[in-house]
Amino acid sequence: MPKVTFIEFNGTEHEIDAEMDRSVMQAATDNLVPGIDGDCGGECSCATCHVFVSEEWAERVGGPHETEISLLELAPDRGERSRLCCQIKMSDELDGLVVHLPEYQM
Ligand code: FES
Repeated sequence: MPKVTFIEFNGTEHEIDAEMDRSVMQAATDNLVPGIDGDCGGECSCATCHVFVSEEWAERVGGPHETEISLLELAPDRGERSRLCCQIKMSDELDGLVVHLPEYQM
């Protein structure tokens, strides 16, 4: 089972076993990671699953799609590696993925 690590703004780390073909957001909410609410259930319409993909994973994960970009524009502290993690599907390729949570989602 691929692993994903969520790092809160205060540095607290949560290493989670993520089910294949489920989203990174679902891995977080299934395991009660604080700061990832996933209010819209993964429909790309709430932005409560905003993360910053760590630099070493950014290329493999890829950038946001058009709808995601429009939502991210509403996020107060978006950055160049911002993604809505409901739009990232876990796979073996992403085993070991590390994402950081924004400050306002503490
Ligand atoms: Fe709503 Fe990701 S869960 S945009």
